[in-house]
Amino acid sequence: MPETEVATTVQVAFEKLIAADLVQAVLKRGGANSVERITLRPVEIKGRKLIQISSFDGRKTFVKNLIGPELESEVRELLSVPFRSLFVNAASDETQIQFSKKGKPLVVVKKRSQVVELDLAHDRTINRLLPEGEPDPFLQTIGMMTADGRIKADRRRKFQQINEFIKLVTDTTDLKSLSIEPLLIVDFGCGNAYLTFALHYYLNEKLGVPCELIGVDQNQELIDRDNAKAAELKSETIRFVNASINAFQPPRPPDMIVALHACDTATDAALAQAIHAQAKLIFSAPCCHHHLQVQLAKGKPATEHAAIMRDGILRERLGDIITDTLRAMILRICGYKVEVIEFTSPEHTAKNLLIRAHKVSVDNVATLIEEYKALKATFGVTPYLESLLPEEIANQIRTD
Ligand SMILES: C[S@@+](CC[C@H](N)C(=O)[O-])C[C@H]1O[C@@H](n2cnc3c(N)ncnc32)[C@H](O)[C@@H]1O
Repeated sequence: MPETEVATTVQVAFEKLIAADLVQAVLKRGGANSVERITLRPVEIKGRKLIQISSFDGRKTFVKNLIGPELESEVRELLSVPFRSLFVNAASDETQIQFSKKGKPLVVVKKRSQVVELDLAHDRTINRLLPEGEPDPFLQTIGMMTADGRIKADRRRKFQQINEFIKLVTDTTDLKSLSIEPLLIVDFGCGNAYLTFALHYYLNEKLGVPCELIGVDQNQELIDRDNAKAAELKSETIRFVNASINAFQPPRPPDMIVALHACDTATDAALAQAIHAQAKLIFSAPCCHHHLQVQLAKGKPATEHAAIMRDGILRERLGDIITDTLRAMILRICGYKVEVIEFTSPEHTAKNLLIRAHKVSVDNVATLIEEYKALKATFGVTPYLESLLPEEIANQIRTD
């Protein structure tokens, strides 16, 4: 591959990324590089236009707001590491840069017939997610904000969690392209549903992605309270249903399944619902993991595992890890790209792991099934989720 061709392409990318008319850019890396997805977009902070660079390394998102020489140096550094693709949306054109497996660049520039107005005011709202410091009717209605726009002291952690969750969801993919109907989000084991109320509000009102929310919980009292809150918000696209997760029948296949700290096997029930519906996105923060713990405690450990199994707390932690690994493996086998990442800052909760899954096609199912079966055999366990799967998948991964 002539080095000059790559160097010219990188220079094109550089100029596009530092251009004044940048609307949004997404750079993706694959393979062994730790940073997988980097987005750049203009933001206005205290009256100054800056470029916000958000990079997601598979665990966390890092954000920098830069301009001038600092921006140029950061962009040069970004482009010095090989990347797979770059999409730049600018006011006057769209540029797509793609590198083949052998590293050959392909650059496609499409001129626009009409120049797109750079709507910084709109971008400003998007980038700050749910802002504080200015009165927001939604945050006030759910009891998080005072009349003058301050977050209440005892709600500050929840507010931070809400913003982190919205960021995790919106960083996953272009939500606008997911569905031609309003996006159907089902929150299983919704409890008081703060995070999904906020997600629904943010997507509908701030991001312009029409969506409907159904919350499902077996606790009638919570469901009544949630429906009262939805009525107070005058929302016709939110409703809460008293049902067990297993028994719930959605009105149409959900696009996004959320299950945050749904207890024990309730997480498996939610993941099974997602798999049956082929939901495009899944966000699941598992909670307690009793099902596998019982199997581990009863089983006779192999000599190489005996030391870990001796102490209850170590056995429990291992059980949590095996449970979530097997869940992630099942999702991968079912055609999901899965990331197991940090949910919120660890100081908020010890239950801090999030399984984020995005439906794509998979091409190495045989290897995944082999790995899955090997892990089960190593510890002599079978996850509950396996018993809830569609027959054709269960038949492929069953070992007994
Ligand atoms: C720990 S709370 C989490 C609530 C909320 N998702 C959050 O993150 O704040 C778990 C919720 O799941 C509900 N739940 C547990 N198992 C369930 C099941 N099988 N079907 C429906 N709801 C369930 C409980 O009633 C409870 O409200």
